[in-house]
This record gives sequence, structure tokens and C-alpha cells, in this order.
Amino acid sequence: MRIDIVSIFPEYLSPLRLSLVGRAIENSTIDLHVHDLRDHTHDRHHTVDDSPYGGGPGMVMKPEPWGEQLDALLAAHDHPPRLIVPTPSGQRFTQTLAHEYANQPWLIFACARYEGIDQRVMDYYSAHCQVDEVSVGDYVLAGGEAAVLVMVEATARLLPGVLGNAQSAPDDSFAPDRPMGAELEGPVYTKPAMWRELEVPEVLRSGDHEAVARWRREQSELRTAARRPDLAG
Ligand code: 6GU
Repeated sequence: MRIDIVSIFPEYLSPLRLSLVGRAIENSTIDLHVHDLRDHTHDRHHTVDDSPYGGGPGMVMKPEPWGEQLDALLAAHDHPPRLIVPTPSGQRFTQTLAHEYANQPWLIFACARYEGIDQRVMDYYSAHCQVDEVSVGDYVLAGGEAAVLVMVEATARLLPGVLGNAQSAPDDSFAPDRPMGAELEGPVYTKPAMWRELEVPEVLRSGDHEAVARWRREQSELRTAARRPDLAG
């Protein structure tokens, strides 16, 4: 999969070179390209923003640098990308959307700062490719970069070969095939069996695989009901 990320803080994306996503880049599962939007400005101050039409606080990202950057990316390829624009006013990023992104050959993430990007950029490129305005949760970040770290990591771990055999995506919280009302994974334990007078639940040490599966399902339902009543079946 090819991933392009455009930002005025390209160094913000450097953690992607670490850990699981870093390994996927090193073994060519992911072909990552990070771009500095200011390379597509032509004034002395490398201006990327201006005041909003209609007035109001803050600044809006100008369309021209985005147009020049995105045209250059689209012209270099024969099939269209999925263009993802992180914004708190977007649709919610979910595990379902992560699976959808993991099935795309090419993603472009356009990181906004300030109050956002001039809407005509999203409108213009909608004629050339699917454009998703996406939010990672109901809170406001200073820019799209941290949201892109989240979305790229959630997507990358679903790519074939990225998770080791020891880990697995199928039983994740929010995995598509989890039963209704049991969306969240329950508690997990490892050795020692006794730690600070706290014991690992007996059933997990019983060797009774059916009893273990029943217990996990029950824990999962209890946790989902307690922590995420909005999901409980
Ligand atoms: Cl995607 N961007 C920003 N700036 N804030 C957010 C967000 C995205 N998702 C939640 N808050």
C-alpha cells in the first residue's frame, strides 16, 4: 500500500518510522511518503493560511498550495487515491473504516492546521477521487497530524503480514465478527498466577477451553455494558 501524508509539520509524522508501522515500511508492505505543504508556496513567507471569508476567529488554509501538491501526486499515478482529510467535523473513524482503508492501494492524508482547509479543495478533488473528511473522536486537536498517526496505525496493523502470529486482529475490540453487546475485549492475565495476593481467575488456568470461551464472552459483555452502554446489545 502507498501512503502519502501532506503536512506543514512533516517531522510530526516521524514516529511512523518506529515500531509496527516502521517495520511495515522497512519490509515494503507500506510505501510511505511525507510531504511539506510549504514546498508548494511561492511567496517569501511561505504562506499557507489567510483570514476566513465572512469573518470570525482563526485562519483558513489557502487552496492554492493544496491544489499544487495534490495535482502533483495525482499526476504521478494512473489510478485515483482515497483522499482523507482529518477534521473534527468529519465522519467518525471506526474499525470498519480502518478495514476499508486497509483494502485500498493508495491513501493520501491531507493534514489541516488552523480552522481547516478551504472547502473548495475537498469539493474539487471529489470529482477525481473519493474524499473522506474524518474525525477520530469528539474532542478538538490542534491539527490533523496526531489523527493521521492514529488512522495509519489502525490501518497498517490490518495489512497482511504486519501483525505477527502471536498477535491477531480477529479478536480485537470492535473486530467486525465480535458478537453484539460484546464489542470490548475483557481482561487479560499472564504469569505469575499469584501477584501481590491477587490471583488469576481459576477458569483461565483450568484447561477447559469451552469454559474459558464462555467466561471471556461474559466478561466482554459486562465490560461493554459498564463502559460503553451505547454499544451494549
Ligand atoms: Cl481528525 N482533527 C482535528 N484537528 N481534531 C480532531 C480530529 C481531527 N478528530 C477529533 N478531533
